[in-house]
Amino acid sequence: MTDPRPIGVFDSGVGGLTVLREIIRRSPAESTIYLGDNARAPYGVRSDEEVLAFSTQSLDMLAEREVKAIVVACNTSTAVAIGALRRRYDLPILGVIRPGASAAALATRNRRVGVIATPATIRSHAYFGAIKDENPAVEVYEHATPALVPLVEAGELSGPTAQAVVAEALAPLFGERDAAGESIFPRPPGATIDTLLLGCTHYPLLRPIIAAIAGEQVAIVDSATATASALAELLGINGLEASGPAEPRATEATHLQLTTGDPGSFHALAGRLFGAAFPEVERVELAVAAR
Ligand code: DGL
Repeated sequence: MTDPRPIGVFDSGVGGLTVLREIIRRSPAESTIYLGDNARAPYGVRSDEEVLAFSTQSLDMLAEREVKAIVVACNTSTAVAIGALRRRYDLPILGVIRPGASAAALATRNRRVGVIATPATIRSHAYFGAIKDENPAVEVYEHATPALVPLVEAGELSGPTAQAVVAEALAPLFGERDAAGESIFPRPPGATIDTLLLGCTHYPLLRPIIAAIAGEQVAIVDSATATASALAELLGINGLEASGPAEPRATEATHLQLTTGDPGSFHALAGRLFGAAFPEVERVELAVAAR
């Protein structure tokens, strides 16, 4: 049995494209429909009620398009709404928090993990719980970094402004260093993390800057690869794969991108991730854009 229906992938904006990229790499036979609610991003500074309402509208739209499974490629929506979303649809719904938590718990050697994420994700303590479920001995340092998503949505992924914003956001975790790389504010004794979990799907787009600030002794982990593997497993278990060894896919996989925002800027940013072959972006309306 094979199932050619697409996989729905949702994020508040362009961040989920980092997960989509890994899904396409890991499962090249699968078609996808990506929805970015760019007009209402960022979600991470909103109330839980708003995040739930906007996530539900977005997933309703993907479900209407006959997807066979949905990846909530947004930590904020996963943290706040995954339970309600799973109750609402007769579809497998995969979030990004458990795969990321499991990857971080496996990566740390000194059992100290820092998590950076949006205020809503940090407020939920979803990562704290998920990492503790994997290994109760791991100490988890959660830190909200609300300045990073607006930077990514604006396409500011490098340069002095991006560097300064990221350095300020990470200062409480890593302290500040002088020009020679020495710590001006050393980390609290015993609190030296060896693993930093990027708990927002936008953050891998700032990975080079984050890695430079964290230093090479800190492993940077994100949810994208682990989520793509979890999805491949989920499709296999449920008999939902688009092709099997005995039944190759009859037609090429297709990839459709939908945004509630400006298709031009979405396309420009997506092009940086996927190259020139990135398909057309379609604009969709979910509801009156808030704010
Ligand atoms: N990419 C979302 C996340 O992983 C975005 C956050 C936002 O819109 O604030 O949390």
